[in-house]
Amino acid sequence: MRRKLAAGNWKMNGTRASLAEIGRIAADHGGAACEIMICPPATLIAAAVTAAGDAPVRIGGQDCHARASGAHTGDIAAAQLADAGASHVILGHSERRADHGESDADVAAKVLAAWSAGLVAVVCLGETEAERDRGETLAVIGRQLAGSVPEGATTANLVVAYEPVWAIGTGRTPTLDQIAEVHDFLRAGLTSRLGPAADGVRLLYGGSVKPSNASEIFAVSNVDGALVGGASLKAEDFGQIIAALSAA
Ligand code: 13P
Repeated sequence: MRRKLAAGNWKMNGTRASLAEIGRIAADHGGAACEIMICPPATLIAAAVTAAGDAPVRIGGQDCHARASGAHTGDIAAAQLADAGASHVILGHSERRADHGESDADVAAKVLAAWSAGLVAVVCLGETEAERDRGETLAVIGRQLAGSVPEGATTANLVVAYEPVWAIGTGRTPTLDQIAEVHDFLRAGLTSRLGPAADGVRLLYGGSVKPSNASEIFAVSNVDGALVGGASLKAEDFGQIIAALSAA
């Protein structure tokens, strides 16, 4: 059985004042049937761990460097995220692929760094609108999965998030059939790589998930949770998504 995961990606949003939202999630949903994770900006990771207190709310980073340490001004090593209290790290988000030119090989190197530091890697992939329009969605997803997830993946160290680029922050979502098609394809792809262990890898959907559409998305085949951007910033909205996932 895969434990469902409600993950929030705060992106470049939030200051110390926002920690109250984590406190509310911890207080109101600490007993949820699903796993909960919030990935705040790196500046808030240590304080977010404190804000979560004893509640089972995991805290994650949004990126790490591929190297363990060294002269990389402005970058953050996986071990530094772990030292701050993070248990997970998002890698290969489309915003990093676009803003920082990260390739599949770059992402795979970062995943290895994350694993070396004991972090769970949340690997993101997804097609652009032009790629979908050209009928290339599964080819793109297959290529990203093969290139971004290195050898050594297990049920315990990998989560995969399908985030269509055109659905992020737009209010648009794929049809439920389109989500199912990609998630079933991802499960099959992981199974051919990992064998039966692929059954335990959580597959998240991300892109304009909100309280009003969460339940229908969580009912889709091979959707084990969500990676939520905008709607994770407020405990009220994220709490409703957590509740929908717990009930799924
Ligand atoms: P939105 O939920 O704001 O569309 O963002 C999704 C996302 O990119 C999560 O990583």
